[in-house]
Amino acid sequence: MFTAPDVPGENRFGVIPHFRDQPVFAEQETRFRGEAVAAVVGEAEAVADLELGLFPVRWSELEAVLSLDEAREKGAALLHSGRDGNVLTRGLVKRGDLRRGLAESDVVVDGDFETGFVEHAYIEPEAGFARRVGDRVEVRACTQAAFMDRDAIAAILGLDNDDVRVTTTAVGGGFGSKLDLSLQPYVALAAWHLNQPVSMTYSRPESMKSTTKRHPSNIRCKIGANKDGRLTAMEFTAVFNTGAYASWGPTVADRVPVHASGPYCIPAYDARSVAVHTNNPPAGAFRGFGVPQSAIAQEALFDELAEKLGIDRLEFRIPLENGMPTGTGQVFESGVGFKKCLLALRPHWHRLCAGAVSFNENTMGTRRRGVGIAGVWYGCGNTSLPNPSTIRVGITAEGRVTLFQGATDIGQGANTVIAQICADAAGIDIALFDLIQADTHRTPDAGKTSASRHTFVSGKAAYLAGLALRREILEAVNAPEDAELTVARGRITVRHSGAVKRLVLSELPATDGLVFSGEETYDPPILPLDKSGQGAPYAQFGYGAHLVEVEVDTGIGTVRVSKVIAAHDVGRAINPTLIEGQVEGGVAQGIGMALMEEFVPGVTENLHDYLIPTFGDVPNVETIIIEEADPHGPFGAKGLGEHVMVPTAPAILNAIYHATGARIRQIPATPDRVLRAIRAARAF
Ligand code: MOS
Repeated sequence: MFTAPDVPGENRFGVIPHFRDQPVFAEQETRFRGEAVAAVVGEAEAVADLELGLFPVRWSELEAVLSLDEAREKGAALLHSGRDGNVLTRGLVKRGDLRRGLAESDVVVDGDFETGFVEHAYIEPEAGFARRVGDRVEVRACTQAAFMDRDAIAAILGLDNDDVRVTTTAVGGGFGSKLDLSLQPYVALAAWHLNQPVSMTYSRPESMKSTTKRHPSNIRCKIGANKDGRLTAMEFTAVFNTGAYASWGPTVADRVPVHASGPYCIPAYDARSVAVHTNNPPAGAFRGFGVPQSAIAQEALFDELAEKLGIDRLEFRIPLENGMPTGTGQVFESGVGFKKCLLALRPHWHRLCAGAVSFNENTMGTRRRGVGIAGVWYGCGNTSLPNPSTIRVGITAEGRVTLFQGATDIGQGANTVIAQICADAAGIDIALFDLIQADTHRTPDAGKTSASRHTFVSGKAAYLAGLALRREILEAVNAPEDAELTVARGRITVRHSGAVKRLVLSELPATDGLVFSGEETYDPPILPLDKSGQGAPYAQFGYGAHLVEVEVDTGIGTVRVSKVIAAHDVGRAINPTLIEGQVEGGVAQGIGMALMEEFVPGVTENLHDYLIPTFGDVPNVETIIIEEADPHGPFGAKGLGEHVMVPTAPAILNAIYHATGARIRQIPATPDRVLRAIRAARAF
């Protein structure tokens, strides 16, 4: 058995260096249910036979703060010393004169919104193993961040980073949660002390109890517009429940004020966020880093403004285009494809709206149809932070191309897309490519699989590495850049203006098994935010809009999503099939967030009590791909992973209103809440 004193290095980890606060094993005090106090290691059958109820630990209950209100009360128990008022961190973006903007608006609407914990519910629970090799340790586990894991495990074991090797398994879904450590420190520590291989797999309840969740939020928002439909001012405050430890709370607090306006131009803008600790599982990264929550408030109020002004809801959303400043004062001269997404949806919008009206006029009984729309923009990459990726590629003596691809594929298709980009840049057939996947001893650091960054950032590094490889080959035969290059049967043939040159790879010298190679790093250009949140936090945004049709049974409050049409500006579609996969998965998660998913610590810690959508809840999704090239992205490509789930839930809530006149301000919109909102709307 191992406990805190068995940790040779630091009994502490956390994804953001400045906020590392989570113990490997609790010392004296646990801050949430599901926190580890000890690891019992043994032969699998012996461990399975343990009577865990008899585990020798004595508990005495301390004062807990479980809700945001309790945590923020004066005199509330503090989870961490030095974090007054249980405040982990705050974020702010401020531009223009808010008070004047609101005062001079023709219409102002406001509202309070509430969202709960959401569980990632990936198919694969956390699993992995470790072994000690001399004075080194090797960990193979499900992760979105091999290099971050390596550094954290090294600090915990008191080793140099080079003495820890992390390789990644195929990851059966991560969605943000596998950016944090889960079992890695336990298997590494046990293998280290016992000098035997150790494996661990979380049961579903263990996974749900102990790993990060989406941040619950309380959002207050006020937005003004002029009679002609121009947005004037927006005031936004979000309080996020960040749980017991920091995890990615600061990232959520930074990202949300930048994004809370949505893809719209609002001259006077004041968006604030605060992340507050409670004695709950740590809230961390989950597809969209808080933006799916903020979009619910902003998109609902946009519908209210449009209705008050008598403007079509789709037309009202058209504002952001090239050359307009964002809330942080950033101006994109090209690559803003939001309007094109709305225009692509326009014919479907009119068709579905007319369909809903006629359905409702011609249907007796309690079923009502409604149509909703919502937009998204999402900055690809870390917010105002360096974000480099390095990719290496080379040709072997046999004429195979080895791609050292450290950008972990968590099911989204990084292995495919990055290989495609590299092959196209090099001008070499992708069939010749072999992949070496994330391995801290073999692949260069391509950063974490997060923030929708790999197609853009790692893709750009792969593009540059492919070009570098091509350049090295062409220079060897003195051929110009536009020469044609063929690799086949261990030979490279270069053709240019009638001249043909051949290289027999096995006759050339090789370094580390590679005859020619290229390694390049890309880090997107960003500017830090100043103290009012002005700057250039991302080099690139992706844009999109979802159009949703729902049917509400106003007798029992159930909502069925019957159609989703999603338009996304991806800059350049590197792999359309994978894009559809992202959209369909994001929509499914958006439906779950909107209608059924709510994690209640201590209550819904299994997939019987915690509901996620099944295929019966998800309609056919139509994906419309828009390509407004980004000047930085490889071949103009933009990220997409997180964008796809942001607009789904707000579009569903807007559709419920359209169907029933009921505004849902607390999600998930479970039948009881929908029914209550319908009754309130009728009474009003
Ligand atoms: Mo994500 S929330 O960047 O995995």
